[in-house]
Amino acid sequence: MLQVIQESLRIESPSTISSAVALTQDTVIYDKVFRSDTTIFIANHRLHVNKNQWIEPDKFIPERFNPSSPYFLTPEGTRRSPMSFVPFLGGKRICVGKTFAELVAKSILPIILCQLSIDIPADSDLAVDQKPSLSHFSNMPNYYVQVTDKNLLAA
Ligand code: HEM
Repeated sequence: MLQVIQESLRIESPSTISSAVALTQDTVIYDKVFRSDTTIFIANHRLHVNKNQWIEPDKFIPERFNPSSPYFLTPEGTRRSPMSFVPFLGGKRICVGKTFAELVAKSILPIILCQLSIDIPADSDLAVDQKPSLSHFSNMPNYYVQVTDKNLLAA
């Protein structure tokens, strides 16, 4: 389940871009000079779909987070950069709710899956494999699922 949560955070990050950072001095980042007063953002979603870091980045593959899976590695077969997966960003501005959010996901999801039956209706016009996975909030796919209380199904 943890791998499914991580893969969901990779492919549909709730936060796709960082807040603005204004440089107070000329700064060199990977050989590029950014002048003082430049405003920069970290596009964490772009890091999450970097073809140099992820095998088939537009596919939902939770095994990417399983160390014994070939998908755990980059397409070159090396270890992924620690910066390739940063749904909560990092450093001094790391999300203060990270641990809480992870705990809630891990404790609520099993309850939801035990209590509710979640299906994609046969007449849905958007099958799972048609879902555009590289979406941001601005172009979220318009798909729907059918949610039923399992207790009602059993009654
Ligand atoms: C899956 C859930 C969450 C994700 C993916 C997430 C992601 C992030 C990210 C990427 C940032 C950095 C924003 C930036 O500086 O550009 C951030 C900051 C922050 N998050 Fe979250 N967050 C989540 C849940 C929460 C929760 C549950 C709380 C509070 C209970 C929370 C509170 C905060 C706060 C206060 C900051 C600002 C930290 C600072 O600037 O020092 N977050 N979050």
